[in-house]
Amino acid sequence: MANVRLYSGEQMPLEMHKVRIVQKLTLPPVEYRQQAMAEAGNNTFLLQNRDVFLDMLTDSGTNAMSDRQQAAMMVADDSYAGSASYARLEAKLREIFGLPYFLPAHQGRAAEHILAQTFVTPGSIVPMNYHFTTTKAHILLKGGAVYELVTDAGLEVTSDLPFKGNMDIDKLQAVIAEHGRDKVAFVRMEAGTNLIGGQPISLQNLTDVRRVCDEHGLLLVMDASLLADNLYFNKTREESCKDLSIREITLRIAGLCDVMYFSARKLGCVRGGGMCLKTEELYRKMRGLVPLYEGFLTYGGMSVREIEALTVGLDETMDEDMISQGPQFIAHMVGELSRRGVPVITPPGGLGCHLNAMELLDHVPQTEYPAAALGAALYIAGGIRGMERGTLSEEREADGREKLADMELLRLALPRRVFTLSQVNYAIDRITWLYENRHLVGGLVFTEEPEILRFFYGRLKPVSDWQEKLVAKFREDLGDSL
Ligand code: F0G
Repeated sequence: MANVRLYSGEQMPLEMHKVRIVQKLTLPPVEYRQQAMAEAGNNTFLLQNRDVFLDMLTDSGTNAMSDRQQAAMMVADDSYAGSASYARLEAKLREIFGLPYFLPAHQGRAAEHILAQTFVTPGSIVPMNYHFTTTKAHILLKGGAVYELVTDAGLEVTSDLPFKGNMDIDKLQAVIAEHGRDKVAFVRMEAGTNLIGGQPISLQNLTDVRRVCDEHGLLLVMDASLLADNLYFNKTREESCKDLSIREITLRIAGLCDVMYFSARKLGCVRGGGMCLKTEELYRKMRGLVPLYEGFLTYGGMSVREIEALTVGLDETMDEDMISQGPQFIAHMVGELSRRGVPVITPPGGLGCHLNAMELLDHVPQTEYPAAALGAALYIAGGIRGMERGTLSEEREADGREKLADMELLRLALPRRVFTLSQVNYAIDRITWLYENRHLVGGLVFTEEPEILRFFYGRLKPVSDWQEKLVAKFREDLGDSL
């Protein structure tokens, strides 16, 4: 990691790359933003990107590629079978993870589909540190159940614990004892965790989970979609990793897993996915499903150009300058917002900065979706698009009651190497303004509520004229500013 100290004594993350391809952005006026939010049914998923200034919806498929990745795309071998591009990827995966087998898939959830098809049966259970939406859906679809065994401290919104994604080993032992090892399809670790604020797991915790798996003869599956951020935290927060290189830490982590699957929309900064496997037996068990659902074994639904870019992207992930950019920008954002009193998840994790809407809008009941309301308000205030991760992202109970979420978060993802520090500082400014005017923000109510995955397509309206009042206050405070 670049150790650059400023003469001023100020602390500031520094980009260790330069911008060589740009995309023009527009920032429409606040009245237009209010209108666009209304047309999108107050759902940030339904906004048109041309109306968005800073797209912090997700880091999935939106990371910046390097010049080397772009160059590699030009030499792709597009043979259906036995593509040289695929051979290069396979060799790179073996070098980096040390696992001998690989099955490609078109994205992360496709790997989850194949894993669930192969190992989950009605009545089986999957203990995990924390779920991700698509992972859970695939397990439930096969009649399995998910047990979330993150340590209690992991769900505390503010804390200074370095590894809030860790699994509670006692809880794992208890779940295995209660259900019996035969019921356990596999144990899943997510590094780092998505839905609880990008919080990482330690190498020590993974080692302890492995020990329990060995004791009971269980498979250990890792979701490595957010591994780049996790590696940075292992290196900087875990004493036993301080003197190891990123490559060494990666090999140790992978060496503890039987299956390591990932979304290459995140890890490797392209669009694709797949799973690295420890044994030929695992490979043979799952191999047949790849041509059936994804594509032939030497592309798995990925474009060969993306495969070439992934090979380079994985190599670049072993560079500390590359993987530190996201976490350092997130730490800057979290630090500045905390200093101004804005409630955010701490310590800063990977993926993005997470605003705690439960506290920020404590006057909005959970049944009026405070995190979604905050998302609509932030778009109006600054043209910034975040993603609701709260009650709106849950599904109703069978009897129609709302399932209230553990946390009400507005996630502001920082796709890797995409935003400049001044753009992040602009976001901090607009969030601060919104925080100081939080009493103006009200709740939302559904006008159109789909039965499944309602957060993607659902449409809502404000419970009052609060958005007009917010726009009027913006004009009062900021004059004719965009
Ligand atoms: N696992 C984790 C931890 C993820 O964050 C994601 C995707 C997936 C699996 C599924 O991968 O999208 O390639 O099918 N997360 C995205 C997000 C969608 O916005 O956080 P995928």
